[in-house]
Amino acid sequence: MRTVYLIGFMGSGKSTVGELLHRKSGISYLDTDQMVVDQYGDIASIFEKEGETQFRAYETEMLTRIPDKNYVVSTGGGIVEREENHTLMKQNGMIIHLDTSFDEITGRLGEDPTRPLWGQYDSDKYKLYIHRRNCYTTLADFTIMTDQKTPETIVTEMMAFLS
Ligand code: S3P
Repeated sequence: MRTVYLIGFMGSGKSTVGELLHRKSGISYLDTDQMVVDQYGDIASIFEKEGETQFRAYETEMLTRIPDKNYVVSTGGGIVEREENHTLMKQNGMIIHLDTSFDEITGRLGEDPTRPLWGQYDSDKYKLYIHRRNCYTTLADFTIMTDQKTPETIVTEMMAFLS
């Protein structure tokens, strides 16, 4: 199987669903945020001390290390900010978009201090959401609407797509 990349906004459930798919199917699992944390430290500190541009460079570095077969990969919500990442994911695998409404995301994230880009004014968050959603939609090979669905239901839809 070609590697599967899960994309979607912060709070869309990429890590939860990726881990569950891994447990149900036995496909190896990686999370680009976790790879960055393991190598460079926590994300809020990277944003604060080194800046977003450096964080994006670390994300791309992690993408280049992921094998092109037999992995499911949760990505950070901003993975679509670099064109280079679009090319890497398109060339190396299949892309599944977890599509979650802005209201649902707002309810799930609340005031999350671990996500630097969520600590902005509400209007800026919404603009970011619209911009990102356009990118996810354009890139995806398959989109799953996630509102009101359990992780189990979402994984079942993913497995049907992958079979
Ligand atoms: C980011 C999303 C985060 C993390 C970082 C930046 C973004 O990942 O990569 O805080 O730019 O949307 P999640 O999508 O897992 O929250």
